[in-house]
Amino acid sequence: MGTYCNIPLRERNIVLIGFMGVGKTTIGQLVAKKLYRDFIDVDQEIEKRHQMSIPTIFEQMGEDYFRKVERELIVDLCTNTRLKIISLGGGAYLQEEVRKACLSHGIVVFLDLSWENWKERLPSIVHDRPLLKNKTLEEIKQLFEQRKQAYSQHHYRVATDGLDPETVATRVMKLIRERDTE
Ligand code: S3P
Repeated sequence: MGTYCNIPLRERNIVLIGFMGVGKTTIGQLVAKKLYRDFIDVDQEIEKRHQMSIPTIFEQMGEDYFRKVERELIVDLCTNTRLKIISLGGGAYLQEEVRKACLSHGIVVFLDLSWENWKERLPSIVHDRPLLKNKTLEEIKQLFEQRKQAYSQHHYRVATDGLDPETVATRVMKLIRERDTE
C-alpha cells in the first residue's frame, strides 16, 4: 500500500492512539458525538467479529493471530472508510503497516498520560489486558516507556493528565475544527 491518499482532509478518519487504559474508547465516543461522526473501537470490532473477548482471543488463538487481525482491520478501515472516529488498541500502532496507514490516510491524535497518573489506573484495567497480567510494575513501566517511540509519530498530541474525558474530547474536537478552518 502506497502512502498517497485522495481523501480530503476534512473527511479523513480521526485515529486515537495511546497506551492501554488512557481512555481512547471513552474519549473517542465523546468526540464522535461532538462531531456527529460514527465511532469504531477496533478491539470491540474484533470481539464482535469473533464472538470472543480479547483475553480469550489471546488465550485461544495467540497474540500473533490477534496482531494480524487488528492490522488487517485497521488498514482496511483507514483506506476504505472516511469520517469515522477510530480508537486503536494500545499495541496496534507498534506495527509499521498500521502506523503508515493511519498517518497517510487519517489524522492521528496521541492521548498522552504520564506514568505517574497512568499507574493509578492499573488496578481497574489489569483484569482484561492480557499484556499486563503477570507483570511487575517495573516491567509494565518498561513497556510504557518502550512504546513512546511509536506513539511519537502522530499529527496531534493531547496531554490528558488531570483532565476528565469530556475536557479531553473537547480539546480533540477543537484541534480538528481549527485544522478544518485553516
Ligand atoms: C493491547 C491493548 C488493548 C488490546 C490488547 C492489547 C496492547 O487495547 O488491544 O489487550 O498491546 O497494548 P487498549 O489499548 O484499548 O487497552
